[in-house]
Amino acid sequence: MKLVDVYCFCVNEKKSKGGIMELIICKNYEEVSQKASEILIEQLIRKPNSILGLATGSTPVGLYNKLIEAYKRGQVSFKNVITFNLDEYLELDRRHPESYFSFMHKNLFNHIDINEDNIHLPSNNIKTLEGDIKTYNDLLKLHQVDVQVLGIGSNGHIGFNEPGSPFENETFATKLTEQTRNDNLRFFNHIDEVPRSAVTMGIGTIMRSKKIVLIATGLNKADAIFKMLKGPITTALPASALRNHPNLAVIVDELAAKNL
Ligand code: GLP
Repeated sequence: MKLVDVYCFCVNEKKSKGGIMELIICKNYEEVSQKASEILIEQLIRKPNSILGLATGSTPVGLYNKLIEAYKRGQVSFKNVITFNLDEYLELDRRHPESYFSFMHKNLFNHIDINEDNIHLPSNNIKTLEGDIKTYNDLLKLHQVDVQVLGIGSNGHIGFNEPGSPFENETFATKLTEQTRNDNLRFFNHIDEVPRSAVTMGIGTIMRSKKIVLIATGLNKADAIFKMLKGPITTALPASALRNHPNLAVIVDELAAKNL
């Protein structure tokens, strides 16, 4: 038996609107990455032309490493996979090392056989923003995401849907809270370099995906995970909207699950 089978345990919760939420509590980051990768690998084997919704942040890096390993050992191919990323900073050139475009290439796309034409990230071109957002939304209406990967911000944001973002939003441009800017300061030299705004899929867009896999690790996510799963469903805690999704897996380590 693999280590992950020993440590992770799963609680299935029936939800009032039907559907199942799986809460999978793993020992550590490695096992969270392993468990999430198993879901995605199984999806890619079953449907090689899957449409994946992808996230940035440090949490999914371990998952992406495992997908790269699966590709290298010939278990999966991304040749026919289409991807849509959740969000992108405004105010940063795409070639900036901390843009999400750069992040995704560095941590996943450069290491797999994905067709560059099948990669989609929200545009951050200020001059064409309005039209580009409409195009992104139109594309997402044509391509229903099979599995959407999500992290969570320490304030409960998903993508860059900050507290207060309406649940029905499609992709939109938004301001970042100071908490989020401070959380992301670790990727930059100075707070003034951290973008103040971003483009993000809205919660309405995210909720249209067939399955959602949210991953979170570490003590600084414990409060957000508790409120997401046990608090009221409210725009004040954007991730709480996911409890209305019929096919949600929440994969956390023991630290992020500490308050449950
Ligand atoms: C950013 C991203 C989110 C991500 C969050 C958490 O704000 N826009 O999609 O979930 O960071 O990041 P981390 O995984 O680094 O804690």
